[in-house]
Amino acid sequence: MSDSATQLEWVPKASEIAREAGGQLREFLAQGVETEYKGDVDLVTVADRTVEMFIRTRLGEVFPDHGIYGEEGTRERLDQQYRWYVDPLDGTTNFAHGIPHFCVSMGLEQRSPELAADQDGKIVAGVIYNPMLDELFTAERGKGVWLNGRPIHVSAVPDLGEALVATGFPSRKRHDSPNIHFYQEFTLRSHGVRRAGSAALDLAYVACGRFESFWEFHLNPWDTSAGFLLVEEAGGRISNFSGGPFQLNSREVLASNGHIHDELIGFFKDLFAGRDLTPIPTPREYAERRAAREAATQK
Ligand code: IPD
Ligand code: CA
Ligand code: CA
Repeated sequence: MSDSATQLEWVPKASEIAREAGGQLREFLAQGVETEYKGDVDLVTVADRTVEMFIRTRLGEVFPDHGIYGEEGTRERLDQQYRWYVDPLDGTTNFAHGIPHFCVSMGLEQRSPELAADQDGKIVAGVIYNPMLDELFTAERGKGVWLNGRPIHVSAVPDLGEALVATGFPSRKRHDSPNIHFYQEFTLRSHGVRRAGSAALDLAYVACGRFESFWEFHLNPWDTSAGFLLVEEAGGRISNFSGGPFQLNSREVLASNGHIHDELIGFFKDLFAGRDLTPIPTPREYAERRAAREAATQK
């Protein structure tokens, strides 16, 4: 098989696997599964482990030369040029409580041999599947991004005041995360902040324009790799909290539709520096600003 034929198969084959894996998650949810603790606070279920094993087997059959790095412990062929980051169940806490909002996430990284272990390669393909809504998000570097086969793009919303944004709180680091301060500020300055419980879906929702932004501390490559490519291919922007390049291991992710990115970075800068922020507008001031902006765009 030639290289280009293999490349053409990345997204279709991975989509097939993600759909099958998602079907298994749906069945596990219907049956009900017991929840265990992985470490002190992180939840895990038989569904996380079984589905990771399934994805590992199927990826190994379809792409025998690709490595696999999975949340539930899979570490295979990591010296290869291509590596899949796999989250078999992103949204375990929702799943364990019977809330139908979770997904399978798979991102493909291309790594050159000279890269050090802690350096990122290039994410070249991404697949995120929500089995409860039968929504399949796919992206290929330089070619585009789709939801169930239709091209998607980020929203055109111009400022935070008109935005719906999202975040999350990782369970393991929750005691020393400053995120609650950002949560509060952004809640009072936007249409609201959603904490929906699946970082990969949050990124997919930025890509398709449902959210204007998503940020979180302490995520891992299996949470962000696929969503990162989706956002970029959808015309959005993704960075660390200072506006520098997003890195899979940086533990800072700030994604947006691009239009509100600099405004968000300004808030991060001020909050980290302990500076007072601009006063929160009253509902009346908020409406006046909106009217002024609408009038300006109609001129
Ligand atoms: C979690 C979800 C959640 C985010 C956590 C992640 P998991 O992944 O993406 O939204 O806030 O930080 O760990 O554990 O359900 O795969
Ligand atoms: Ca996850
Ligand atoms: Ca997971």
